[in-house]
Amino acid sequence: MLDLRIKNDFPIFKNNPDLVYLDSGATSLKPRCVIDAVVNFYSCYTANIHRGDYDNSFIASKEYDDTRKLVCKLLNNDDPDEIIFTSGTTASINNLAYSYGLNILNKGDVILTTLSEHASDILPWFKVKEKTEAIIKYIPLNNDGTFNIDNFKKVLNEGNVKIVALPLISNVLGYINPIKEISKVAHEKGAIICVDGAQGVPHIKVDVKDLDIDFLSFSAHKMLGPSGVGVLYGKKELLDKMDPLFMGGGANARFNKEGEIILKEIPTRFEAGTPNIEGVIGFKKALEYLLEIGMDNIEKHEKELGRYIVERLSSLPNIEIYNPKTDCSIVSFNVKGIFAQDVGSYLNSFNIAVRTGNHCAKMLHNIIGASETVRVSAYLYNDKEDIDKLYNALKDITLEKCIGAII
Ligand code: ALA
Repeated sequence: MLDLRIKNDFPIFKNNPDLVYLDSGATSLKPRCVIDAVVNFYSCYTANIHRGDYDNSFIASKEYDDTRKLVCKLLNNDDPDEIIFTSGTTASINNLAYSYGLNILNKGDVILTTLSEHASDILPWFKVKEKTEAIIKYIPLNNDGTFNIDNFKKVLNEGNVKIVALPLISNVLGYINPIKEISKVAHEKGAIICVDGAQGVPHIKVDVKDLDIDFLSFSAHKMLGPSGVGVLYGKKELLDKMDPLFMGGGANARFNKEGEIILKEIPTRFEAGTPNIEGVIGFKKALEYLLEIGMDNIEKHEKELGRYIVERLSSLPNIEIYNPKTDCSIVSFNVKGIFAQDVGSYLNSFNIAVRTGNHCAKMLHNIIGASETVRVSAYLYNDKEDIDKLYNALKDITLEKCIGAII
């Protein structure tokens, strides 16, 4: 397990000493260094980037651009130009769907995905499907929601599959998809693989080269950074085929003699307008913090916590866990006879924060047989003591107490 003193780096615990935060799948807490970096930008060197001929603009531009290098370090990538900053995973996937999907999909082409997808990884593809008359097909999962590579190979052979869109880790079930194997099989068939890394990149080591990922999307706010910042990683040769979704300041270098737009180089052409400068600068500190601890160590810590959550909760007879084989520290469950949201309100009365509902994975009930669950999602600042508090609260839960907690 990681050093428990990590909690001291997060001011929220000083201000809320009893807080048991188990909703990091929704958003993560922020360490002091990230908060300070944002405040420091506002207090000491506020300026726009890539547009000012003065010191503060140079400093801000360097901090912003250096963040790309750290993202590369995190992903074992060697080309910072392949890192595009967006406002989050949702924006990254929409960018991808409209800028790439619209360009390459034709009537009858297939986009392959699964029923466990989060809304952000399915709705953009639905819109593109409508515009291109492409088809969305679902890869049948195993009964427990895990990925089935044989089913994948079968569906891949059934049509002209151009795009495979999958999460690295499911936001409800916590299973790690075998992306390396999936991308190998997809590439053999000429399809490209678009990975939703929102729940994966913050928690496990991701090597885009080794996994041979074509596009990867993720958000800073789920990995200790500020909200409103995301990344779209793409292989250069694929980014070259994309038309920017947004046009505006910074996207074009000039107009040619005919008055046509000459776009700037990649990645600048994809970041029109003033970006979230302070957010990216804060994200840089978050990346430094994570890299210092080591993604391997974070992954190990979370796997152990995940096993501990399952062990503790499965000892309670009234709890049904939907993903006892979770690969990380995401665990989804229900208390028999009590609506998930009522369980959430009950836990809130103990200052325990969890997420309840369908978690935006609105087709997953077809697999797990429950449309609402309670989801626990831990991170590097959680420890076994947090899980014991959750266990102690749940062991005494009754419907009456839940109603009492709501009133
Ligand atoms: N995708 C986020 C979650 O799973 C919001 O909670």
